[in-house]
Amino acid sequence: MEAPARYLEIGVETGFTFFAVSAAFKTAVDPEFLFDVPAAKAENSNSEFHQITSDEFFATRHSEENFDLVFLDGLHTWDQTYRDFCNTLLVTGSNSVIVLDDIFPSDVFSCNRDQVEGMMMRQFMTGDASNAWHGDTYKIIPLIQTFHPTLSYCTIISDGNPQSLVWRSKHPLMPPMNLIKEQGSLNMSSLDYLWFLRNQQSYNLMTEAEALALVTEALH
Ligand SMILES: C[S@@+](CC[C@H](N)C(=O)[O-])C[C@H]1O[C@@H](n2cnc3c(N)ncnc32)[C@H](O)[C@@H]1O
Repeated sequence: MEAPARYLEIGVETGFTFFAVSAAFKTAVDPEFLFDVPAAKAENSNSEFHQITSDEFFATRHSEENFDLVFLDGLHTWDQTYRDFCNTLLVTGSNSVIVLDDIFPSDVFSCNRDQVEGMMMRQFMTGDASNAWHGDTYKIIPLIQTFHPTLSYCTIISDGNPQSLVWRSKHPLMPPMNLIKEQGSLNMSSLDYLWFLRNQQSYNLMTEAEALALVTEALH
């Protein structure tokens, strides 16, 4: 895929990904950057840095703004990420790609909404002191499948931490899901880790090469 003209990253932390991305203009949003912001501004004339929450950022943006590539990696809860996702739809266009991180919990402890409790439970129950935390961000895929039937998505599982790619499509890849019809009402807490394990195929799993070929073809 070509380098995007305009890149937006929500949740930037140390800038590990942000500074490595090649784009003509880049926008970073995080309530607490873990780097020297004045120095970063001085060294990156093609970038803007907003030390605010994603909600505050989106409240100031105009819907005619078009980001080509957006990486959503902020707070790992479904409600915050879904809000970020819906706001992102207002500042992207027909050829934009949205990348969702933390879409695939690595175990039942990693999908705890409380990061500290998830780590403590894992160590207590298994002796494993690792810090993997995805929160319940995985729940936004069934929301996209239910509420955004004109979007296509796939999930890259070949390489490290899985990520989903989402784009607008004339021919959506996945059959629509209707959580409300299935559940009688929208019941997000019923989408627990066992639901996730049973429904992994609905994430449209593929390798990175397959995913990039698919998106390139769709946006050509
Ligand atoms: C996993 S880190 C991001 C890592 C980064 N994207 C990378 O690839 O290196 C998550 C970041 O989200 C930020 N964050 C938490 N709540 C947020 C919010 N409401 N809006 C934007 N960012 C938020 C945290 O401060 C943290 O720096």
